[in-house]
Amino acid sequence: MSGDTDHGAAAIAAARVERRWAGLSIGIICVLVVLAAYTGIHQAVMPQAQVETADPRTLHISGEFIESNLGSAVEPDGSVTVRAIGQQYSFTPQCILIPTDTPVRFRATSADVIHGFLIEHTNVNTMLVPGYISAATTRFSTPADLVMPCHEFCGAGHEGMWGRIKVIEKSAFQKLAADRRRMTCVAQ
Ligand code: CUA
Repeated sequence: MSGDTDHGAAAIAAARVERRWAGLSIGIICVLVVLAAYTGIHQAVMPQAQVETADPRTLHISGEFIESNLGSAVEPDGSVTVRAIGQQYSFTPQCILIPTDTPVRFRATSADVIHGFLIEHTNVNTMLVPGYISAATTRFSTPADLVMPCHEFCGAGHEGMWGRIKVIEKSAFQKLAADRRRMTCVAQ
């Protein structure tokens, strides 16, 4: 007799626990739906502040990323802009020349697939997405030879895709810049 009562009480308890867990999982689903809706709406009403595009099919023919415009250039305000392209499986220029103690702005894009753009020991870490221009700003305090590996899998030759950064004294860089419009390590 008491066995039956125990059984009944246990069934009631089990049903209560089941309802609680069912409620919890429905609650989690509701939270996820609200989150998905919120991020979707948020992205639609607040697009990225700045999206710059570059057609990968015409990169080499016209515009900012033609070959003669790649490398480091001194701006009128004294800062340096570096333009580069990533393609399977190298960077152009292969070695980027940079002065110390100068704000350096990188502008880069991809000619084919998505590549990674990372400079060791700096905050520069972005992706090169075909069709879009990636920008990053940094500054180097001491002369150095740094590596710039592609860190986004981009095909069979991915692990061989490395660029180099050569940071030289500001004075030496300015001397070179005096008679050249665009600089790379090769021109040094
Ligand atoms: Cu380019 Cu990996």
